[in-house]
Amino acid sequence: ASTLGAAAAEQGRYFGAAVAANHLGETPYASTLDTEFSSVTPENEMKWDATEPTRGTFTFGSADQIVNHAQSRGMKVRGHTLVWYSQLPGWVGNLGATDLRSAMNNHITQVMQHYQGRIHSWDVANEAFQDGDSGARRSSPFQDKLGDGYMEEAFRTARAADPAAKLCYNDYNIEGINAKSNAVYNMVRDFKARGVPIDCVGFQSHFNSASPVPYDYRENLQRFADLGVDVQITELDIEGSGTAQADNYSSVVRSCLAVSRCTGITVWGVTDKYSWRAGGTPLLFDGNYTKKPAYNAVLAALGGG
Ligand code: G3I
Repeated sequence: ASTLGAAAAEQGRYFGAAVAANHLGETPYASTLDTEFSSVTPENEMKWDATEPTRGTFTFGSADQIVNHAQSRGMKVRGHTLVWYSQLPGWVGNLGATDLRSAMNNHITQVMQHYQGRIHSWDVANEAFQDGDSGARRSSPFQDKLGDGYMEEAFRTARAADPAAKLCYNDYNIEGINAKSNAVYNMVRDFKARGVPIDCVGFQSHFNSASPVPYDYRENLQRFADLGVDVQITELDIEGSGTAQADNYSSVVRSCLAVSRCTGITVWGVTDKYSWRAGGTPLLFDGNYTKKPAYNAVLAALGGG
């Protein structure tokens, strides 16, 4: 196979990219996306501030644009994200507990039902745990006003809204075995033990010199898979260039392929030109849409070429 999507498909996986609606009109952006990738994640367009800027008023224009683009070209779509402390419109934080609970459940229900049957996996909750050694939940309106139980309520509401979608918990700094990933692991184990619906864990995988690819990545993915959930690499990007970057990408792909329940990889952007890391070069295509050594390494690791 000569593209990322086709090579990944031969391994039984998808290979996706985060996409911004406002770049789809740029011909090389769209053609690179359409040629190489088999799944898309809207980078910002499905977040709460984009989809429900005012309570009860839902706006799906930009997200629909991405979903329609993807589906008309045979690409799958990951949903990102329903319950997150960031990119949350101000009105959410101003609600009291009773209203906040119903607003959360309504948001999940309306957004998921709008896309019912069109999203393969949803990040139901994103970044709910603190960094560092505490293993504690992160402060957010949901956590602070509703307590730990908001998380399982969100997953139960999500299952009812679109029973066909895989429901994921997504976070960063959980790629290796550490206090934060242990906390997520314990939550997933508890959910599985008590029958709370959860199908997958997303490992964002934003790597740089301060946060390199962990040596125990595969082992960590496997221990989550052994709980009975799929694992997905959801926002992969790796700072650097040349051979070092290529080797890091290759090791991430090999870690996923070594875990049978690692069902797909998404890179967090199509081209370095539009990476969220301003001035960074963490992706597979450079600013001119030329394939980088990292691209060739990923394709080779997927068995393509
Ligand atoms: O759309 C507005 C525009 O109207 C406004 O004029 C402009 C001025 O700042 O901002 C634009 O919004 C920006 C948005 O991206 C769209 O470009 C926001 O400021 C900016 O903060 C936002 O950044 C996004 C970031 O999430 C916000 O948290 C990045 O694009 C996006 O890549 C990033 O993605 C996150 C994942 O969702 C979760 N995991 C980490 C990852 C990287 O931070």
